[in-house]
Amino acid sequence: MAVYYDDKNKIFRLDTEKSTYVIGLSPEGYVGHIYYGARLYQEAAGYLLRMDEPPYTPSVNQREKSAFLDFFPMEYPTGGVGDYRESCFNVRNEKGCMGSEIFYVSHEVYKGKRGLEGLPASFGTEDEVETLEILCEDPILKLQVYLSYSAFEKENIITRSVRIVNMGVQTLKLEKVYSACLDMDDEKFRMLTLCGAWARERHIQECEVHYGKQMVSSAKGETSHQEHPFMALVTPGTNQVQGQVYAMNFVYSGNFIAQAERTQFDSVRMVMGIHQEEFSWNLKPSDTFQAPEIVLTYSGEGLGQMTRNYHDFYRNHMIRSPYLHKKRPILINNWEATYFDFDTEKLLSIAREAKACGIEMLVMDDGWFGERNSDDSSLGDWTVNEKKLQGGLRHLVEEVNAIGLDFGIWFEPEMISPNSELYRRHPEWAIQIPGREPTQSRSQLVLDLSRPEVLDYVYESVAVILRSANISYVKWDMNRQLSDMGSTYLDKDSQQELFHRYVLGVYALQERLVTEFPNLLLENCSGGGARFDPGMLYYSPQIWCSDDTDAIERLMIQEGTALVYPLSTMGAHISDCPNHSVGRSTPFETRGHVALAGTFGYELDITKISEQDRRMIPEQVRMYHKYHELIREGDYYRIASYRENHTHDCWAVSSRDKKEVLVTYVHVLGNVIAHSRKIKLQGFRPEARYCLEGTDLVFTGEMLMQGGFLISGLRGDYTSRLYHFIME
Ligand code: DGJ
Repeated sequence: MAVYYDDKNKIFRLDTEKSTYVIGLSPEGYVGHIYYGARLYQEAAGYLLRMDEPPYTPSVNQREKSAFLDFFPMEYPTGGVGDYRESCFNVRNEKGCMGSEIFYVSHEVYKGKRGLEGLPASFGTEDEVETLEILCEDPILKLQVYLSYSAFEKENIITRSVRIVNMGVQTLKLEKVYSACLDMDDEKFRMLTLCGAWARERHIQECEVHYGKQMVSSAKGETSHQEHPFMALVTPGTNQVQGQVYAMNFVYSGNFIAQAERTQFDSVRMVMGIHQEEFSWNLKPSDTFQAPEIVLTYSGEGLGQMTRNYHDFYRNHMIRSPYLHKKRPILINNWEATYFDFDTEKLLSIAREAKACGIEMLVMDDGWFGERNSDDSSLGDWTVNEKKLQGGLRHLVEEVNAIGLDFGIWFEPEMISPNSELYRRHPEWAIQIPGREPTQSRSQLVLDLSRPEVLDYVYESVAVILRSANISYVKWDMNRQLSDMGSTYLDKDSQQELFHRYVLGVYALQERLVTEFPNLLLENCSGGGARFDPGMLYYSPQIWCSDDTDAIERLMIQEGTALVYPLSTMGAHISDCPNHSVGRSTPFETRGHVALAGTFGYELDITKISEQDRRMIPEQVRMYHKYHELIREGDYYRIASYRENHTHDCWAVSSRDKKEVLVTYVHVLGNVIAHSRKIKLQGFRPEARYCLEGTDLVFTGEMLMQGGFLISGLRGDYTSRLYHFIME
């Protein structure tokens, strides 16, 4: 049993293998947070709610209610009644007043977990997860608030979500509905987030939590290149192997806020949810609003354990694709090879050479439809450009298949070019504020996915193409953020629903796609990695990590991404040099070793690269065939970080039974004394002995982890090594 209720003391408790989460009720029925941390083995107690200390609880001392509200550790704080910390829930009544207060009514505990209407959400069997649903009510507004908690014991994960039901007779305006709050006493917390830019996504950033509010967020309509819906609060001195970590990750692909707030009482409130900016929702009588899910984890063993909790959780309970545990095809994508300048013959020449090198799939990227010869036209016109694809798409696919490769294709379904047939027919389908020229980005506008007929058009445009030929893979791209948030479909009072309705539209489209084409390998993408989040993983087992394919830039991008997401989800390709984003040249071998930590593929003109590089491809293909399972299914250990040390990077993947460990080392810069560097490895059994493949060297796991391993013979910047240790 993972969930218990102690009726006498009014305490709920959720246990995972290594953590415990405790909730208590005040005499009035406020739902309070008692504890989250290392697994408790004895009964939990409620004194940490401090209800015996002044300021007394309202039932004892109504005069000091505001002081109580501003102090009490709330599970789901509501706004407008006297808790001046960040609220999670703001609701405005018909008279225009904002304020709500919720009290415990009842609860339900059940094995398993229910889905969330219209939203991606984690899942598990009755043996894997147990759920607590606490029903609270605002008796004045007749508003029900369901707080859901699911405990995934093995992965040390607690998921949370919130569902609001209007049981009253007035239409209420939900102005803020976050998904989770964690009120804790400050432990000199430091805040870890993932931040970046286009071609620099998800770099790890750490800072002190100071008084006041500090946050990361997106109001761009997607998760964004710049900030990420992940936050960890860590105790001082936390590193990969030690320290306490409280982390939240949001299963959502639109606007978000993740915030930590240190208060006058030295408590810290951590919240996460849909950003309140430009959000409101009209909740009519009997309507329900479902807020997206948060994935919480606690690690008492540093960031490494947090990472492995998340990796296991997303692999076991979020990704549904049949490819999850399968070898992904080694693909070659023509984007950096040709950009828009290709035709059937060019693609076939790439396919022939790729086949000769052992590559398994050709992906045709942007530019195959409408009149699209540059990025300023044709989005929305999903008809094959037969001037480029002479003989049509089916002919091309058949030829590629005949060569012996699978075929994949690129779409950007959510967009519309002002220079397109679709726009000329349906200008009202673009998101826009009437009377204002909508802002273009990459010469494109965004389709209004709140409109049912737009969803149907978009879906059919994609599906017709997929039904027309033997297509095994789709890259679903999205190349601009949202702006000018106006819908000619929604009424005046519902315009602020557009951001969320847009995300629901994206989810509905992808759900239809994976339902009709269950064997399709779907890769999400957004101008590189602007929509890399757990929500998208529910539909696609892999996401393009970044448009920056430079091996050295990728070290930091992939380190940050792998802090939370499994290596099997990170789209990573070997591209040509000088690199198209940063102009750097790195050895072909290093590019291969870095891409091996992701889905592995190529993004170059294989007919034009040097003979020396091309000759290495069959060897890299063998390397992928040898290690793909270990990398996809194994435990990831971050060993050294170039971001921190500015000289080298190192990570390892260990099989679940620790019988084999693959270590990747990248020597980025600088001299090494005596040309060797000692690295303390992780992921081994201390008592076991390991052979280093290709040598007659044998090491104990203990020596490798406590003493270290010598990386020797290092000469030349940007070089890399792969070490495969096998238990004797
Ligand atoms: C952005 C993607 O990240 C690239 O890989 C490529 O598909 C381009 N879009 C095409 O427009």
